This record gives sequence, C-alpha cells and structure tokens, in this order.
Amino acid sequence: MKKVWQILLVGLLALGLALTASGCGGEKKSSQGTGEKEPIVVKFSHVVAESTPKGQAALKFKELLESKSNGQFKVEVYPSSQLYGDKEELEALRANNVQLIAPSATKLVGFNPAFQLVDMPFLFESDEAAYKFYDGEYGQKLLRSLEPQGMLGLAWWPNGSKHFTNSKRPLKRPEDFKGLKFRTQSGGVLDEQFKALGAGSQTLAFGEVYVALQNGTVDGQENTFNNIETQKYAEVQKYMTVSGHGRIDYVVLTNTTFWNSLTDEQKKLFVECMKEATDFERQLADELNQKSFENLKNSGKLQIYTLTEEDRKAFVEAMKPVYDKYTDKIGKEYIEAARNTK
Ligand code: LMR
Repeated sequence: MKKVWQILLVGLLALGLALTASGCGGEKKSSQGTGEKEPIVVKFSHVVAESTPKGQAALKFKELLESKSNGQFKVEVYPSSQLYGDKEELEALRANNVQLIAPSATKLVGFNPAFQLVDMPFLFESDEAAYKFYDGEYGQKLLRSLEPQGMLGLAWWPNGSKHFTNSKRPLKRPEDFKGLKFRTQSGGVLDEQFKALGAGSQTLAFGEVYVALQNGTVDGQENTFNNIETQKYAEVQKYMTVSGHGRIDYVVLTNTTFWNSLTDEQKKLFVECMKEATDFERQLADELNQKSFENLKNSGKLQIYTLTEEDRKAFVEAMKPVYDKYTDKIGKEYIEAARNTK
C-alpha cells in the first residue's frame, strides 16, 4: 500500500513538471505572493450526506491538510449537492470552480467507459479484492486515464456493495423484476443489467432520487446500506433485497491546473493527507454500512430479503448478457484482472 502511494506521488509530481514544460499549467499561486499570505482555498463538493463514509473522509482530509500545512490551505467541504449535483460537479471541477470531487466511478463513464467496471454484476469476490484491484496496476491506470480531460485521480474511496430497494414487491428471483422501473446513476451497464432482468431504467442525479421514488417516477433503486439509510429511502420504499450485486466506489479527483499551481512540497503534503484520509474512509465504509444495515433492520420500515446461494446463481445467470455486451467495451483485461484479484 505504501508503495502505491509512493508511485502515485512520483507520478503526480512528474505530471506537474510535464504540464509546466508544455505550458498547460496555471500561474504559480497568486495567494503566495507578497504581503499577507492568503490561504489556498480548496473547494470539495460532493452529493452525499455529511455522515457518510465520503462525507466524513472529506472532513478528515480538511482537518489533516489545514493542520499539517499550518493554515497554508483552507478546505471548504460542500456536502449533499449543496453546490453542485452529479453532472455539474464534473463540469465545475474541469472549470476549476471546485478543486476536489469524489464521484462514484460509474459517473466517469463519459470520459472512460472502463470505469463502469464497478457496475459489472457480481464481479469482485470481496471488499478486499476490490481494494486490492484499485491499488494495483489497473486501478492506478484508471486514475491516470483522466489526465487528458484536465482531471487527476488522487485516490479510490470505496463505499461498498449495493442492494436493491423497491416499492412494489419482494425481489427474490430475477423474474420478480419484470415490468418494474429502476433509477440508475449513469452509463449503459446499469441499463443493460435491468434490461437483462426484464425491468426498465432511468438515469437520475442522486439528489433527485428520493422524490422520484416518492412520486413513482421509478419503482426502485440500488445503493449501499449507508446511502439507503442516510437518504431515508425507507420512507418511500417497502422492500429491500440484500444482493451485493455490484459496488459503489468513488474516485477522488482534482483539477490539473490547480494541481500544477502547487509547489512540490504542497503536492507532497496533499498526497500524504489524501493517503491518511483514504485509510480512514476505507475503515469507516465497512463500519458505517454495517451500522446502517442494523438500523434499517431495526427500523422495521423495510421488508428485507437476503438472496440465498441458489438465488444468487440465478441472478448471475440472468445477468450474463451484461458481460456479453460490455466486456469488450470496458476492456477484457480489466474484467479479468478484477476477477483474478483475490
Ligand atoms: C448514487 O448516485 O447513487 C451514488 O453514486 C451517490 C454517492 O455518491 O454515493
């Protein structure tokens, strides 16, 4: 793990040099100029609640960077789509109106279809396998793949497995999905997944999901236990299927112009604080999802069904068309590497 961060740091420092040499970089910090030293303001925008793993890790990063830099940096965290929704936050980052975002990997499909890997049904064997994949060759390659679009991937912040909820009926077998409509985050893999189950789908920004479930625009959605709890979906859903059929994991991104405006020392500190915040996030993700599952069970608001091994096999079989259609689009080597990570 330590080695991964060393490699990342060397790579990011090298990128800064390359951008400077090619004239792509921004001005050196005006806030570092003469007179009073203004702190460098880093805006971190995200769409989930403050109490989530992502929300807490963003605050951790703020605490670390502000204290370790002796006030050189000021990090402003904007949760719950306060500043920008899903699509807008990506545009805002590219325009350098915010300097950090952490969208779910799926939402980067427009820049690199391989990010949809996280949506491939039943792909990773465990949380540990996913973490290992993200920290390995292919996960790091994905982080670097956004550089031509003016974005730098700094870290993977996994959230965890996702599960189905809906308002109509218990979903135990693939055939139970027929005729229902589900919200998707973005990208073709998720549409194909629901199509394979005989269901419809509609892409909606995270901030719009509660109302869409409430007014019946969609019947159901898929998410982590923690998002299901913190978004209060149990108020507008009746059933939850513990399926763990895919994942919701985040990519922490910064803007290349902003990055290049930092000194090597500042970059080093940034990466160091990001590493610490990442360790914190990964530990918290598991803890908070387990806690949310218990809270959802205890609330009595949802009828909960957990897939048996036999049900699971039926879903794996039913969702095979997703692999037929998307393996080549994502890249066979990515799928195989994910499968072979233990
Ligand atoms: C979703 O859109 O459901 C999630 O990606 C939201 C998030 O950031 O966890």
